[in-house]
Amino acid sequence: GIKKKEVHVLCLGLDNSGKTTIINKLKPSNAQAQDIVPTIGFSIEKFKTSSLSFTVFDMSGQGRYRNLWEHYYKEGQAIIFVIDSCDKLRMVVAKEELDTLLNHPDIKHRRMPILFFANKMDLRDALSSVKVSQQLCLESIKDKPWHICASDALKGEGLQEGVDWLQDQIR
Ligand code: GTP
Ligand code: MG
Repeated sequence: GIKKKEVHVLCLGLDNSGKTTIINKLKPSNAQAQDIVPTIGFSIEKFKTSSLSFTVFDMSGQGRYRNLWEHYYKEGQAIIFVIDSCDKLRMVVAKEELDTLLNHPDIKHRRMPILFFANKMDLRDALSSVKVSQQLCLESIKDKPWHICASDALKGEGLQEGVDWLQDQIR
């Protein structure tokens, strides 16, 4: 068949937000892992869409590993940033990590599309994607295309919409 264009994506966000669960759900069902465990360091994952072949750097969100993120910034052409919409106490921590990311010299002046997943929308006390967007001040991101989707990674809801947007941004 025709070779798909390869894209490197960084999957970032706090621990327990659902990054690995999301990436796992984007794989064909016969390639999906049954049990997801907290990521140690990072893991390289692959999935395909109609026109692209994605290589994802699925980074650990644990505090002690977050300093690894920046070593992969140069490699990434796009970012998937995952937020636990129920984790209200750590929304400010997520915002701090996002701000640090956006101000990093390897990110700052590049046109990198950022796809946000306001994940765990299935839980009763989840904030809406609009509320998450407000708490993270996403409207202030002017120099990069971004998009936020509410998602339920357990059922896979919202993921396709996000990935379709990302695919459209990459050329
Ligand atoms: P680190 O690797 O530690 O950075 O975490 P992570 O962001 O990769 O999170 P992970 O995918 O391991 O998911 C953390 C927990 O959240 C797991 O118990 C998942 O089953 C659960 N989870 C992930 N997505 C959802 C969701 O949409 N809804 C609900 N209810 N639980 C979710
Ligand atoms: Mg993980």
